[in-house]
Amino acid sequence: MVIEHDVDLTPYTTFGFKQRAAHFVEVDGEQALLEAVRHAQQRHWPILALGGGSNLVFTRDFPGLVIRQIDSSVRYTDATDGNGTHVTSSAGVLWHELVMDTVDRDFIGLENLSLIPGQVGAAPVQNIGAYGVELCDRFVALRALHVPTGEWLTMTAEECHFSYRDSLFKRQQDEYIIGQVTLHIGGDLELNTEYRALAEYLASHFQDRRPDVKLVSESICAIRTSKLPDPARLPNAGSFFHNPVVSRSHYTDLLQNYPDMIGYPQENGSYKLAAGWLIDKLGYKGYRQNGVGVHGKQALVLIKYHQTDAVALIRLAEKIRDHVLQEFQVSLKIEPRIL
Ligand code: EPU
Repeated sequence: MVIEHDVDLTPYTTFGFKQRAAHFVEVDGEQALLEAVRHAQQRHWPILALGGGSNLVFTRDFPGLVIRQIDSSVRYTDATDGNGTHVTSSAGVLWHELVMDTVDRDFIGLENLSLIPGQVGAAPVQNIGAYGVELCDRFVALRALHVPTGEWLTMTAEECHFSYRDSLFKRQQDEYIIGQVTLHIGGDLELNTEYRALAEYLASHFQDRRPDVKLVSESICAIRTSKLPDPARLPNAGSFFHNPVVSRSHYTDLLQNYPDMIGYPQENGSYKLAAGWLIDKLGYKGYRQNGVGVHGKQALVLIKYHQTDAVALIRLAEKIRDHVLQEFQVSLKIEPRIL
């Protein structure tokens, strides 16, 4: 185990704010991860497990040990219930590479989640979701290190407490480190092309073709590329806010003033609003201040245009949040982890 000290974290997050880690280690496998955790605990260093850094904003130097998992094994087995296949991936695999591997093998299941940045180990933390599919819809089990006890646990979906962009791992941050994820693909799963932007794209580009898993994945990649900025060119962390949920009466009140407002009915009678629409309505698309700004094609994405510190980004997020609250009486919640 090689522990480095005073390491620049710029390359390890998509926003790339120039902060440093007091200690940094790359680990390959469960045993190495446990050793790194023990090493930090003996020295009373705080621990941070890094994924792809696509949902993380460092506002200051990290005073402890940053751990990066680099193992990259992917394995396919028959599903234990006889329905389809289970794919088991190490945390260090890039999520999109895992999706592409399953798509290349013609397995239905993960295609709607194509091109989501980050590593597999981070996917359950915020229960990644896009175009009508969430990670929890394909989830079988995961292996996680319980940091306080040093025990490796196998956890079911129920134990992970998944909900919209949320899980046990997000609520009890740093208590668990995910080392491996198993997902269900193939079998009786069917393509899900109902999400409006996807249905429209397929209808306008491929009206004569029957969608298959490769076509859906390709379409998702095209839609994402057209709307979402490439973090390598325009540093960002995807959606910067959650889509807020409001009561039915709040929703209908808002509709009086904003008849074109986007809202999705939820099972419990509440409505999920499109935060991007609210921010867009207030004129922020393309807005810039102090080296940061709002993406010109998707108002939910904040971008770092020039080298600046994270304070500028947080100020912009607060300004947007205050404005949305004032105009729509809706409280936006920041999605990426701010450290
Ligand atoms: N909209 C606007 N203006 C905007 C942005 C959106 O009017 O600037 C409208 C769109 O026209 C659409 C609605 O708002 O009618 C929803 O927009 P979109 O389909 O782009 O999805 P979203 O709700 O903004 C969510 C996820 C994305 C995911 C997409 C597609 C969250 C916080 N974000 O965005 O996830 O890719 O749906 O499923 O739930 C991420 O988490 O980083 C992320 C990119």
